[in-house]
Amino acid sequence: MSEALNKDKDSRDEVSWHLKGNWGPIKEEISSSDLEVRGEIPKELKGTYIRNGFNPKSGSSDHWFFGNGMLHSVEINEGKASYKNRYVRTPYYENDDDVMSSFGNLAASPANTHIVEHSGRLLALEETHLPWEVDMQLNTVGVYDFSGELEGAMTAHPRVCPETGELLFFGYSIMGDPHLTYYRADKNGSMIQKEDISLPRAVMMHDWAVTRNYVIFMDLPIVSDMNLAVKTGSPFGFMPECGARLGVMPRDGRNSDIKWFEVDPCFVFHTFNSHEEDGKIIMYVSRQKEAMVGGFQDVYGGETTLGRLWRWTLDLNTGQTTEEQMDDSPCDFPRVDDRKMGLKASKGYSLQLETDVETLTLGNCIYKYDLETGKRETHVLGDNVAGGEPVFVPSSSLSSEEDGYVFCLAHERDTRVSKLVIVRADDFESQPVAEVLIPQRVPYGAHGSWIPRN
Ligand SMILES: [Fe+2]
Repeated sequence: MSEALNKDKDSRDEVSWHLKGNWGPIKEEISSSDLEVRGEIPKELKGTYIRNGFNPKSGSSDHWFFGNGMLHSVEINEGKASYKNRYVRTPYYENDDDVMSSFGNLAASPANTHIVEHSGRLLALEETHLPWEVDMQLNTVGVYDFSGELEGAMTAHPRVCPETGELLFFGYSIMGDPHLTYYRADKNGSMIQKEDISLPRAVMMHDWAVTRNYVIFMDLPIVSDMNLAVKTGSPFGFMPECGARLGVMPRDGRNSDIKWFEVDPCFVFHTFNSHEEDGKIIMYVSRQKEAMVGGFQDVYGGETTLGRLWRWTLDLNTGQTTEEQMDDSPCDFPRVDDRKMGLKASKGYSLQLETDVETLTLGNCIYKYDLETGKRETHVLGDNVAGGEPVFVPSSSLSSEEDGYVFCLAHERDTRVSKLVIVRADDFESQPVAEVLIPQRVPYGAHGSWIPRN
């Protein structure tokens, strides 16, 4: 695969988009306190926002997905903010591995996609390896395999159940059976369930959804096919002829319990949320018509490869599926209030994506959706500003779903200033209450979490 990828790369005349502009990596790891703030940071906010992203140590990587994970944190207390950034020091980092040498070593993770807290542990995640634990100072603690119970890869999109405290997740494998395994850890992090899931073929499964009683696997047609790899040089391809299905399984169920629902072929990198209502599963997703149509190197390319808000309704009694597009504006990196995960969330947030491009171009707006109606509110970040994943931060642990703020790590292209924008969730279209200026450029990245301090 490496040779094929290199060939693909060499055939390009210029540096790939994922290394240009503010996608380009930075070199310094710094710590800085008492950051400059435009406006005022709300005094009730106490905690740390941490975002993960791709930052190749060597300055280059063959693919967007292969850069080393670098964490950026903004700690907030008493209206003041401090910043820190650190690499996740895994063997992939220490040995400056390329992706081929990281295959076969589950610990050699780029650890570059997400950071999630569960049972007092902060886990840096990438979907083809084991998690890596870091501490609140962003020091790398070590690889984390649930006391030896996790013997395969873990998704970068696990879910913490707000009611039981359980950590629900899956791992997929393109190398052999089982192509998919489901896991459930209790609130203390002890593994209590492992279940191999049958899939007809290996697929890229980036995200999924959970509800109070079920988990939903997305068997969508970004297919891994070694014949395709030989023919096209890409280990993944979009193969709509393979069909698309959603598998609904009770949280404590078995592979044989799964009910599969057919949907029109498409791809979904990310789901907003999902819940149960009147014997139905309601899923809100960022659905795109196709993905990776030019192969693994072309994750994005053209208007049909951008997500939009859709609702899928899966009737558990009749087996019927209803698919509805709820908005026509491209967006991705969807989030809801994490305290509503798997429950009925009324609001969803996402980042606008630009349409007139051949790569991923982050937009200058973040959206707040009324998930019931699809009505959209827009927060404009400014001219020539690019946003990031919007993360909802509640005012306090007991505050209501809209009593809080939306955090967005944005970048001013003209000044090359990166800033954490803080917007009131219930006054979403107004000016931010605060913009925390980061004392160095923060490259565009992936996902993050707010870790409140009690
Ligand atoms: Fe993701």
